[in-house]
Amino acid sequence: MKRLLERPLFFANWKMNHGPTDGRAYIAAFLRAFPPHPDRTVALFPPALSLSAVRDARADRTDIRLGVQNIHSQEKGAFTGENSAPMARDAGAELVLVGHSERRHVFGETNLEVARKTALASRLGLIPVLCVGETLSQREMGDAERIVVEQLQIGLEQMKGPELGDVIVAYEPVWAIGTGHSATPQDATAMHLVIRATLREMSGRETDSTPILYGGSVNRGNAKTLLNADGVDGLLVGSACLDPEGWADICRT
Ligand code: 13P
Repeated sequence: MKRLLERPLFFANWKMNHGPTDGRAYIAAFLRAFPPHPDRTVALFPPALSLSAVRDARADRTDIRLGVQNIHSQEKGAFTGENSAPMARDAGAELVLVGHSERRHVFGETNLEVARKTALASRLGLIPVLCVGETLSQREMGDAERIVVEQLQIGLEQMKGPELGDVIVAYEPVWAIGTGHSATPQDATAMHLVIRATLREMSGRETDSTPILYGGSVNRGNAKTLLNADGVDGLLVGSACLDPEGWADICRT
């Protein structure tokens, strides 16, 4: 399965914001502000409860792709409160964020769970967006690369060779998320090159088809510089995507 996503990629993680009613209003405003742009990919990741409403509001604007922020590592069963990959697909998702730093650090998700989710998502037809990134103390100890490489190696190890070509990676340094301090373009490039090299090593071939996104305090002011950094194929945005006009501005970068 190989689905081409035109670069650059602009992914909006709504986190726990915008229920179905807000979600519909958001889409109406966003679609007005952002006509189709075939030279890029825009995807929204609303809360699971809002996904169907967003899909319906999107109507025929299927250039706006949809995803969920998390899935359970099993296909179905007695897991109260969780959402499965097949349900996400049924509700309109094509993509899924896996291993977002808030899942790892607030909800204690381990590399092994992330690996199960990544492999399951891919097997069930969702494109996994594997999120990796070091904390501030890990960076200060000089451990950033080792942590990110480990997150990648374990996170992708349950995938079969060809499935590796269908993954998206997002580098989101934990210290940059929600802090107003984004990575510098140089820092982003340095880590993206490490990620690219690790993907090549793991797959034994060129992996340039795997987009690598940057996330962490991206806003209207810095989106262009970060997007122009070497090795950055797109942006994963949190707070600056919550306002539809502001998000449309970033997507026009
Ligand atoms: P902010 O853009 O709010 O820093 O969040 C980034 C993020 O976590 C996107 O997944």
